[in-house]
Amino acid sequence: MEHIPRNVLITGGAGFIGSQFARHLLKTDSSLCVVVFDKLTYAGNPHSIKDLELFGNRYSFVRGDINDLMMVRDVLKQHKIDTVANFAAETHVDRSIHGSLVFTDSNDRGTHVLLMASREAGVARYIQVSTDEVYGSLESHNATEEFPVHPGSPYAAAKAAGDLMVLAFYNTYKMPVVVTRCSNNYGPYQYPEKLIPRNLLRVLKGQTFQIYGHGRQIRNWIHVSDHLKGVDAAMRRARLGEIYNFGTDVEYSNRQIASMICKLAGKADSSIEEIPDPRPGHDFRYGIDSSKAQKELGWKPQISFPQGLSDTVNWYKSNQHWLESIESWKKELGV
Ligand SMILES: NC(=O)c1ccc[n+]([C@@H]2O[C@H](COP(=O)([O-])OP(=O)(O)OC[C@H]3O[C@@H](n4cnc5c(N)ncnc54)[C@H](O)[C@@H]3O)[C@@H](O)[C@H]2O)c1
Repeated sequence: MEHIPRNVLITGGAGFIGSQFARHLLKTDSSLCVVVFDKLTYAGNPHSIKDLELFGNRYSFVRGDINDLMMVRDVLKQHKIDTVANFAAETHVDRSIHGSLVFTDSNDRGTHVLLMASREAGVARYIQVSTDEVYGSLESHNATEEFPVHPGSPYAAAKAAGDLMVLAFYNTYKMPVVVTRCSNNYGPYQYPEKLIPRNLLRVLKGQTFQIYGHGRQIRNWIHVSDHLKGVDAAMRRARLGEIYNFGTDVEYSNRQIASMICKLAGKADSSIEEIPDPRPGHDFRYGIDSSKAQKELGWKPQISFPQGLSDTVNWYKSNQHWLESIESWKKELGV
């Protein structure tokens, strides 16, 4: 039976994907209310969700950490939350190499705390938003949901640990959970430390597009709006206790991505610079099979990569105020 969300808690909702999920729900379903709950780390930009205030009392924001059990309990109760979508996480692989503990705190322990509080509150749906990186590096094949987890980075390991606890809560307590795993997202509002926005901004300033090592690492790319439509479908129609993969057939090496971005920015391939790979144990390729989501949820990615990439380039070119807001937010945080 389809789940009808009424009061949705979006943790990590000030980040890249969570903020757009909040906007998507508020715009497409006038019967629901959204509470964004976010710690506002360097990656959570209050400016990304400022416009949501236009939705009046259908939208609230609470600043908090998913590790704070008392606070999470309070928010779930006060806002009569029936649906939790957990996007909150530390997400940058490079940072996880230099300081992994905070990744365990948010992605693993934080998930556990959120699960405990959600179970106590009797939420009707808990969605864990996860990543294809938990399957680890794959030669040429694509991971189905049956694949074992084999994470290669501290980021992916902490995400995998969070996923396993979610599935254990289903097995042990029959808690109504769903895990989604998605490939590399691109699109507006992505913090400019990730491959595409970081380097796009560099080339627009006349600097080089930096690729790690030879740049032959392969990723599967999906537009953020296709991902969040998948999470929405999973929230309503997924079978409980199940994992659903979301990905596309768009597979490119980082060098190919660099070349495409340079072209869109009006630069030649000579702008591409190989730098020493800062990721020891760098996963070579991720591959994901999303036929289960297509069959069971009726989900399909809709945005073509050339169109999505060109729109993304234009968005970053014309949203200077958002980029400035990141700098002012970092100054306020003192990071
Ligand atoms: N970006 C991708 O390509 C991608 C792909 C697949 C899955 N995911 C998953 O989607 C989710 C969102 O990713 P994103 O790219 O939007 O990340 P992001 O880094 O842009 O945003 C993460 C948000 O979580 C918040 N946060 C971090 N720790 C928190 C805590 N302890 N309590 C409350 N809030 C906290 C941050 O302030 C930030 O707003 C993550 O769980 C990530 O693993 C991302």
